[in-house]
Amino acid sequence: MALLRERRGAVEIVTFNRPEALNALNRQTFEELEAALDEIERDDAVGAMVFTGAGEKSFVAGADIRQFVDLDVWTSGEFAERTLRLFRRIEESPKPSIAAVNGFCLGGGVEFSLSCDVRIGAENARFGQPEVNLGIIPGWGGTQRLQRLVGPGWARQLILTGDMIDAQTALRIGLINELLPQPQLLERAVQIAQRMGGRARRAVALAKQAIQRGAEMPLAEGLKYETAMWQIAFESEDRREGVGAFLEKREPKFKGR
Ligand code: COA
Repeated sequence: MALLRERRGAVEIVTFNRPEALNALNRQTFEELEAALDEIERDDAVGAMVFTGAGEKSFVAGADIRQFVDLDVWTSGEFAERTLRLFRRIEESPKPSIAAVNGFCLGGGVEFSLSCDVRIGAENARFGQPEVNLGIIPGWGGTQRLQRLVGPGWARQLILTGDMIDAQTALRIGLINELLPQPQLLERAVQIAQRMGGRARRAVALAKQAIQRGAEMPLAEGLKYETAMWQIAFESEDRREGVGAFLEKREPKFKGR
């Protein structure tokens, strides 16, 4: 199995599990990831997802480079489209996702993590876009999402040098939100995911959508989009419960409706 799955409360933990190849992403990983997302999206018991890597050395050391040997102009395009669709699905999922980066996070590993809502890292995390060392370029969103997160200066340095940065630098440039000792990483990721999964689900999904879509629009349109999502939130049962609970000075009991 290229993926391991575990449920903790309302959080689904998905572990990339090819430690012999530092959890590099191959065809089987993508097939299992697609199937996992099918199940997670349908399952009301899951409020949020955590992604991490098996072992203590690597989150994901990129695409499995063996797959690149036979690609040509057409098959590389099909491969990129399929992977971009899969990453987009995570980015647009109503369920938030946290990448718990526990070691090497390279190439497609960075690109995958950029599709998650939040990235946190262990002290041994290393980040890089080493594609230029292979004579290719990032093709799963790296040239686009990285500069939107950390700015064009750092995106250019990472992508054009192919060099790795350490966890401290990743923290400083905003590639990760938090830096933890390795033994505490997963617990912290699950804790963040539990917080998100325990809130009013529709509100979380609407807020996520407003941030995501808004980032792809000019400000004036983004603000209009935010208003539309805000209006929709007023239709939810959880809005009545949340506002009512506050005024009655009690904890809300959200139903995700
Ligand atoms: N694809 C396929 N196999 C990979 C891989 C990848 N992206 N990354 C690591 N592996 C494999 C290695 O080939 C090695 O397999 P082997 O034991 O059968 O020889 C195993 O994982 C362990 O890696 P190794 O290189 O021995 O570990 P290391 O600690 O010396 O170096 C890295 C770690 C991450 C620096 C190095 O493996 C590396 O540069 N990997 C490629 C990263 C990359 O370019 N990713 C982007 C792809 S677009």
